[in-house]
Amino acid sequence: MRSILIAGNWKMNMGPKETADFFAQLEDAAHKEITGVEAAVCPPFVSLSTAFSSRKAGSAVKIGAQNVHYEDNGAFTGEISTAMLKELGCDFVILGHSERREYFGEDDKIINKKVKKALAEGITPIVCVGEVLSERKDKRHFDVVKEQTAGSLAGLSDDDLRKIVIAYEPVWAIGTGETASPEQAQEMHSFIRGELTSLFSKEVADIVRILYGGSMKPGNAGELLQQPDVDGGLIGGASLKPSDFSNLIAIASEQ
Ligand code: 13P
Repeated sequence: MRSILIAGNWKMNMGPKETADFFAQLEDAAHKEITGVEAAVCPPFVSLSTAFSSRKAGSAVKIGAQNVHYEDNGAFTGEISTAMLKELGCDFVILGHSERREYFGEDDKIINKKVKKALAEGITPIVCVGEVLSERKDKRHFDVVKEQTAGSLAGLSDDDLRKIVIAYEPVWAIGTGETASPEQAQEMHSFIRGELTSLFSKEVADIVRILYGGSMKPGNAGELLQQPDVDGGLIGGASLKPSDFSNLIAIASEQ
């Protein structure tokens, strides 16, 4: 059985002070180990240390980053390496988010290099795919997601795939308040699992968690998480509020 992953992507929000406040306000229940549910937050780089130090002792909430570079070290001004994230204790790194693709020119080739580097360092990549509105309107959404999936995961083995999380984030649903319907999400998640089956094997495709992202919040999480191929959420806006994030974890634990 795939456990549910509730992952918060804080994007360019929450400096160290707000990060400490967040952990102080997170409900005790959210810190507890829950069978079948994993929770993680991905703060900006400068708040990672504070996230680790302000998390309650024994907290089950994991911590991840929002990006990483694919080189080991060297003259890459402004970049952060996987070894640096590992040294802090990061479990996850979000890769290929649509905002990285759109504003920072990341393509599947770059994302693929980052995925390989994260895997080599033992950090779980959360690999994002998803179409923009015009692609959905043109009925090209399956082709786009197929290409992104194959490109970002090129050259990986079945064993690598086991250590990966995919996030389907339709760009038209990100930060817009518009959510994919549970049926739309299920349709695409099942399509992605089918693609993973063709690219790798059914055995490993059945293990991989596929998260949904795009205006997920306590009010709609239940029906999305009930879908058989929706294995969690990558949550932006609603992950910034300790009460919403605690609620999302509680909702996941009821599935
Ligand atoms: P929102 O939940 O704010 O729509 O953001 C989704 C997202 O991009 C998570 O990575």
